[in-house]
Amino acid sequence: MKKLIAGNWKMNLTREGVNQLVYDLMQLLPGAPDGGREFLVCPPYVYLDRCAKFFMGSAMAVGAQDCSVHANGAFTGDISADMVRDFGCSHVILGHSERRQFHKETDAVVVAKAAQAHRAGLTAIICVGETEKQREAGQEKAVVQDQILHSLPQGTTAQNVVVAYEPVWAIGTGKTATVDDIKEMHAFIRGCLSETLADYQNIRILYGGSVKPSNAGEIFAVEHVGGALIGGASLKAQDYWGIAQKA
Ligand code: PGA
Repeated sequence: MKKLIAGNWKMNLTREGVNQLVYDLMQLLPGAPDGGREFLVCPPYVYLDRCAKFFMGSAMAVGAQDCSVHANGAFTGDISADMVRDFGCSHVILGHSERRQFHKETDAVVVAKAAQAHRAGLTAIICVGETEKQREAGQEKAVVQDQILHSLPQGTTAQNVVVAYEPVWAIGTGKTATVDDIKEMHAFIRGCLSETLADYQNIRILYGGSVKPSNAGEIFAVEHVGGALIGGASLKAQDYWGIAQKA
């Protein structure tokens, strides 16, 4: 299974920074799709058009960080899955812990967004993961199982869904889950997927949370890890590429 190297730029950069990052990435990326890896960046909405044009014909795919639960209409400030697709995107991140935490997104919201993403022809990267408190209480598996059960839409396949396991306490903190934690959780997630999906073996499960060039190798070596969702390190072309080279 090809590893997906997905960068989540979050709410960072301005036009100048985007231009520089794209330029730097283009110097490092292989000219054509490569055998073992797929490359993806998810810029803020306002830079999607620019990035999709810059990366056109390269090995880099472009995705959004969210989309609306609605198809279209009077929803001021929202962006639909069709618009994201129209801008040349192939993927959309949904249910990121920052959306769940700061925008109170529930599994029901995530599943509705994922259904919109599928209708528009996008692959949904659906994020799950426990908080530090939940892990300390020994609830990490129950939490993740519940999120998987309720965040994946009807008609989920390996083509239209990627699961990203991101322990909330490891995001942007410099704390990475241990290799043993990742191994245990990824195997557990595979098991959860097997309960409801025929295609469960082929669904990619990414790891996310303080991935960097120095820890990417050991993370990618873990069974069932199908790539990485990278925040901070994806804002530096050298670090993004350093991680990709470990895949
Ligand atoms: P981080 O973010 O790599 O900065 O920890 C990961 C994410 O939020 O997807």
